[in-house]
Amino acid sequence: MATARTRVFFLTSVLCATLAQDFKLKYKPATTPVRLFTEEELKRYDGRQEKQPIYMAVKGVVFDVTKGKEFYGKDAPYNALVGMDSTRAVAKMSLDPADLTSDTTGLTEEQLKSLDSIFEGTYKSKYPIVGYTASRILKDDGSPNEDFKPEDQPLFQIKDEF
Ligand code: HEM
Repeated sequence: MATARTRVFFLTSVLCATLAQDFKLKYKPATTPVRLFTEEELKRYDGRQEKQPIYMAVKGVVFDVTKGKEFYGKDAPYNALVGMDSTRAVAKMSLDPADLTSDTTGLTEEQLKSLDSIFEGTYKSKYPIVGYTASRILKDDGSPNEDFKPEDQPLFQIKDEF
């Protein structure tokens, strides 16, 4: 009897220790907290104020591009891209004001591929992620953005971004 109880106790302890270990590995807290940015909030980081960091979103992911000041700072060549989600401009390599938007409607396969390669090769590898655009997830009234369908965006790697 005592042996059976000891065995159950032992097995339970092993199971708990294993689960705890598993939990510890899978649910490590993020080292830096990320936040959601409304359009208005993102605008505050448009490189025009000296002491403020510079933020820019691509595909709804907000990057701190401050260390690329020579590209994005005040009077720098790509300053138009910052303080907003400029996914379309990046995809088309365009600074046309009409392209300064997160809207990817009608982009060609080639432009989407180029977007993904710049997203991975430049932004994700060079700049820290500080958050996500609120509109990527929620509409202005706080309801879920039903237009956001990762499965409709073949180059969108949601598991890498969250
Ligand atoms: C005559 C046209 C252009 C020239 C000569 C040019 C040149 C360059 C150069 C030399 C770099 C730096 C590469 C590096 O050091 O890693 C760069 C980066 C970049 N360019 Fe251009 N560019 C031009 C047009 C554009 C346009 C129209 C856009 C519009 C979106 C654009 C967006 C970018 C971006 C997003 C980067 C990456 C900056 C970063 O590393 O954060 N470029 N370009």
